[in-house]
Amino acid sequence: MNELKHLAIIMDGNGRWAKAHILERSAGHEAGARVVEDIAIFAAKRGIKTLSLYAFSTENWRRPQREVDFLMKLLSKFLKSKEQMIVQNNIRFHTIGDISAFDADLRAQIQQLKSLSAANTGLNLVLALNYGARDELSRACAKLAKNNSEFSEDNISAALDTAEFGDVDLLIRTGGEQRLSNFLLWQASYAELVFCPTLWPDFTSAECEQICAKFEQTHRRFGGL
Ligand code: FPP
Repeated sequence: MNELKHLAIIMDGNGRWAKAHILERSAGHEAGARVVEDIAIFAAKRGIKTLSLYAFSTENWRRPQREVDFLMKLLSKFLKSKEQMIVQNNIRFHTIGDISAFDADLRAQIQQLKSLSAANTGLNLVLALNYGARDELSRACAKLAKNNSEFSEDNISAALDTAEFGDVDLLIRTGGEQRLSNFLLWQASYAELVFCPTLWPDFTSAECEQICAKFEQTHRRFGGL
């Protein structure tokens, strides 16, 4: 049986969900944030070691300013209101991506949740914020060059934002599109990819469980036989 240690999710479809319900796009993101909580609790209870969620990409700044502002506020609200859920479920909170682009208040909130949960030993909940795999790889290479380190696979992996989490075992993208959109490109080299049509606000822990259980029954060869 395949062990599922690192699950990564591209949470797509909030906008289409809102449109289908004749609502503003912001309502789709709000509904999406509720699912983030459900899936984090599910992953914690299931004993998954790391759950990486693509919450805001380096490309998402190109959205209308109104939507970017809304997503920032929603993130701030999420960080504030989920402290108890994170502590109760023994979750350790992390981020990947370049958060220096965020305003000081938001950065302080992120730091606070990281500190508050630092001693927790259960699920690593990793939010990708201002994250892009190409940006991450180029930052990692710059670090190695500065230290005169060899560009070996091990050194590159260790210089990535995900150094402590390792490779992705299973990557799910909701919303029906079949692409990786610059998410964890290095870490997902051998990941099992699952593209499901469900829009993120409709994604449930039951559907997630089905996908995880199927993953555990697949045979991964990592290029061997
Ligand atoms: C894609 O939906 C989703 C995002 C832009 C980011 C994910 C954001 C959330 C799940 C909500 C907030 C999360 C946290 C952690 C507070 P889309 O707008 O691209 O959907 P569409 O493709 O249907 O337009």
